[in-house]
Amino acid sequence: MRLVRGGFLWLLAASLLRLSNGDTYDIQDYTDACHTIFSPKRTLESGKCERFIGGYWAEITNRLRSSTCVGQDCSRLAVTKQRFYSESECVGLPYEVFTYPVQNECMRASNGTQAFRVDPTTTNVTQVDYLVNDRCGGDLTRQYIMSVGYCYELYPDRAPRSFRWEVERYDATAISDAWRPSSLGLVQAAGVAAPLALLGSPRAREF
Ligand SMILES: *[C@@H]1O[C@H](CO)[C@@H](O)[C@H](O)[C@H]1NC(C)=O
Ligand SMILES: *[C@@H]1O[C@H](CO)[C@@H](O)[C@H](O)[C@H]1NC(C)=O
Repeated sequence: MRLVRGGFLWLLAASLLRLSNGDTYDIQDYTDACHTIFSPKRTLESGKCERFIGGYWAEITNRLRSSTCVGQDCSRLAVTKQRFYSESECVGLPYEVFTYPVQNECMRASNGTQAFRVDPTTTNVTQVDYLVNDRCGGDLTRQYIMSVGYCYELYPDRAPRSFRWEVERYDATAISDAWRPSSLGLVQAAGVAAPLALLGSPRAREF
């Protein structure tokens, strides 16, 4: 999952689902890892049972994921945000933000799949890359443990010079303010629920 120009983008096998506005989603099928378009994009309506991908039909709806959301319909998905900064020491506005779910969802990555999780104390985000494997399995794995809230320095002479991982999760113990971002910078966003193993399109590693 990734926030792209105001819409969530999911990559499922070789299809992209994007929230186009509040009530519709665009779905695009590809013959490869989302480079070559296979057929014209389809538009799915929220709350309507429609043909999804392969043999699946789906009824898709949004849930608001926000600290101001109250009630049963709010999303409880915990996400991590990787924010890249042009300056060192993570100062100023981030110029690029990547969002990933952290419930160990299996997502498409550039050369295989990957999954993110966070420990109960929200101390570390753990990313596991499963190289050349489509199902988050196999022996070829690479693991990265990132300290939540820590500012990592990147390039000394060009942007991005630094980045930071944050976690936003639902906090059932809080009454008035159920959403607790691990640090400042809470962003309101609508989440898209999808029925299958979720495959995202991360390209953060390209830096
Ligand atoms: C994918 O990863 C495998 C295993 O590390 C490597 O042999 C292969 O060259 C990689 N392919 C690409 C396109 O990066
Ligand atoms: C976080 O990661 C560090 C470094 O790998 C490790 O020493 C520490 O025990 C981890 N903390 C938690 C709560 O998982």
